[in-house]
Amino acid sequence: MSSLTYGQLVCAICHAELLQHPSEAAELTCAGCCQPYIVFAGRIPLILPDSVSYRVNTYWQYNKYLRETEATLAKLRQNSAQPWAAARAQYLREALTTNAVYIARIQQQLAASLPPELLLARPADKLRSLAYLSSFSYLKRDWCGLPEDEQELQTIIGAVRAGLPTTSQPGQALVLGAGTARVAAMLKDDFEQVYAIDLSLTMAWQYHNLAEQGAVRFYDIQSKNARSLAEQATEHWATANLVPNLAPDSLQYWVADVKQIPLPTNSVAAVVSVYFTDTVPLHEYLGEVKRVLRPGGVFINFGPLEYHFTDISAHLSAEEVRSVFESYGFRVVQEQEVTTSHLLRPASLAYKTYHNWFFSAVLTAEDEAASQTITDRAPRAAVSSLL
Ligand SMILES: C[S@@+](CC[C@H](N)C(=O)[O-])C[C@H]1O[C@@H](n2cnc3c(N)ncnc32)[C@H](O)[C@@H]1O
Repeated sequence: MSSLTYGQLVCAICHAELLQHPSEAAELTCAGCCQPYIVFAGRIPLILPDSVSYRVNTYWQYNKYLRETEATLAKLRQNSAQPWAAARAQYLREALTTNAVYIARIQQQLAASLPPELLLARPADKLRSLAYLSSFSYLKRDWCGLPEDEQELQTIIGAVRAGLPTTSQPGQALVLGAGTARVAAMLKDDFEQVYAIDLSLTMAWQYHNLAEQGAVRFYDIQSKNARSLAEQATEHWATANLVPNLAPDSLQYWVADVKQIPLPTNSVAAVVSVYFTDTVPLHEYLGEVKRVLRPGGVFINFGPLEYHFTDISAHLSAEEVRSVFESYGFRVVQEQEVTTSHLLRPASLAYKTYHNWFFSAVLTAEDEAASQTITDRAPRAAVSSLL
């Protein structure tokens, strides 16, 4: 066994070193608890405690997406005899098929990574949300260089950089729920090393595939609020050269859960959360963020509190989020509202803006010991103080 070359990647369960078998580059094993992990398609480490169920589940999600696409194509064919529907059928067929072929390729790789018998039946438990399944709209925002998207990205990166520590030793950074990773990639020269994690295989694939291929063709399909048929499905080329020197390994991007971050304790100087703080209940992962941040490290938040989960008991207000951070030993040092458009399509009948809450919070070394004891109680304490 030899040490691997994935920066500081460690076991998601016990945080021990991961080892790579010289002849099995696609497999990693924890030196502590022996948990195995795979490197999906030879390039995307899946650092999840149960990567088999995750892959089976994702395979069936893709299956659902592909069946739904087939059904839509069949309806378009059925309608195409009618005068209003012929152009529509022809136009959307190309867009739907292009994206479906793209997803089917990832699905094939998933199938190749699993024993066939595991894929015979759809898993009994509910499939995870399809919300970030295809991720083409993030690929468009991040990697197509369109003026409206570049403007949004420049505003985000400007705010994030304003929150970074001004030390001569930049250290390492972690980007949570990194999506298609343009923000993480833009930060790669601000740090010695940037790590990005996301729970969506498709998001991670979009980044790794683009970094390897250099360019990717796809359609952004948005059926709602379109002024014209052409607006419902726009063809795009994503290009990696929007970020100079982007190579597959210039940023370490792993599939991992923010609740079990595969990085050592006290290892990173900054944790960056862009449009993510409202994705997973804060109290479920802030302890992990605190574990990997070194004392004096900074947490940077940028985004609204739109909450993409249904449990309103964890839909904290900005005030409550701030007090949860304080109870975990952070001190909020900067705070501002920054307005951006989001995933903008200029010709749409709808226009979405966010008054993003930007803040940076420093993990104070002196509060470390005290906050450790209230870690588990902190979110409830913040809520009950309002009652
Ligand atoms: C609203 S998107 C934001 C993406 C990205 N930060 C950006 O702005 O481009 C939220 C992201 O969080 C990811 N995510 C959701 N739950 C997660 C979890 N438990 N751990 C890591 N990532 C997660 C989703 O897959 C999705 O890519």
